[in-house]
Amino acid sequence: MIVRNEHHRDFREKAETFGALLDALASPHDRLWPANNWPPMRFDRPLGIGATGGAGPIRYFVESYSPGRSIVFRFTGPQGFDGTHSFIVEPLSAGTRLTHLLTMKTSGSASFSWPLIFRPLHDALVEEALDRAATAVGEPLAAPPWSSYVRLLRAIVRRRGRQRRIAGFTSMDVQQSREKLITILQFAYSGELAAGLAYAGHWRSVSDPAERARIHAIEDEEWHHRALVGGMLRELGAAPDPKRERRATMIGRTLGAFCHVATWFPPMYGAGKLESRNIREYEAAAGFARDSANEQFIDCLLTMAEVEWEHEAYFRARVESHWLSRIVKVWPAPPPKEEIRRTFGSAAPTAPH
Ligand SMILES: [Fe+2]
Ligand SMILES: [Fe+2]
Repeated sequence: MIVRNEHHRDFREKAETFGALLDALASPHDRLWPANNWPPMRFDRPLGIGATGGAGPIRYFVESYSPGRSIVFRFTGPQGFDGTHSFIVEPLSAGTRLTHLLTMKTSGSASFSWPLIFRPLHDALVEEALDRAATAVGEPLAAPPWSSYVRLLRAIVRRRGRQRRIAGFTSMDVQQSREKLITILQFAYSGELAAGLAYAGHWRSVSDPAERARIHAIEDEEWHHRALVGGMLRELGAAPDPKRERRATMIGRTLGAFCHVATWFPPMYGAGKLESRNIREYEAAAGFARDSANEQFIDCLLTMAEVEWEHEAYFRARVESHWLSRIVKVWPAPPPKEEIRRTFGSAAPTAPH
């Protein structure tokens, strides 16, 4: 099926203003894409030729970009979407025309899913984008209200979790996952601070050179994790939670000092138990990253889960080498390390590309 879908609106405002809106697409200052109601548009790097990403289940990369004038995205998914969509800023004799143009050839199931599912949602989304442009320049809104069919589609999609490739179109899922991602990253960011401070005391408190070296290396890895998580929070336009930071500082310093007065066993046991929680925390964060269309974080989050798995394994082995572990029940062992990516892969939505 050959598809040509055009939405445009004429404004009184000059073209430069719309050019600036276009250039800020997918950035923290984006005022064009209606991410309040729809999956956010995200790319793996700043807007420019080759930037790869998309919005929810619709995947594309920047094929051509003329700053302030036009940008063309070429689809890479869903399967059967062969073509492009673009934003075009066109100066008129008195004002500007802002156009969104989608041209493609569909094949296979896309020839049904486009007219039945994607087009109604797409049309509603693009009209809202044009309304966002109108809001930015103080001109009247003109998007029609959502039709009952669009509302129905959104309701169905929300209920049917298994159809995640479409579910990306429901803002509720994406928005809620994004909020959960930010919360869990804030939690992890402060958790790494507490861990870093605690291990700084821990490795200095042990006398065995091999243990000192390993725990020192673990401390360094926690600081590295903290830097990575901090970068993700910044990219999401979020910040660490100051209350959690204060608490983590207190806990970390107390634990670090405690290691010097405690015997060998309790700090090893406490560390291992905490590490097992960290594995699950990063796995959960990777799930929220996927569900909030922040796929660029997934690999890093799963790698951090794997590193936490190694930390847990180390402390577990140390604890189990001690006679006290025959009296004190050791926390449940996590599944094998390979399971982290395997279970994540099987829980992932069917990728449309
Ligand atoms: Fe860590
Ligand atoms: Fe750790």
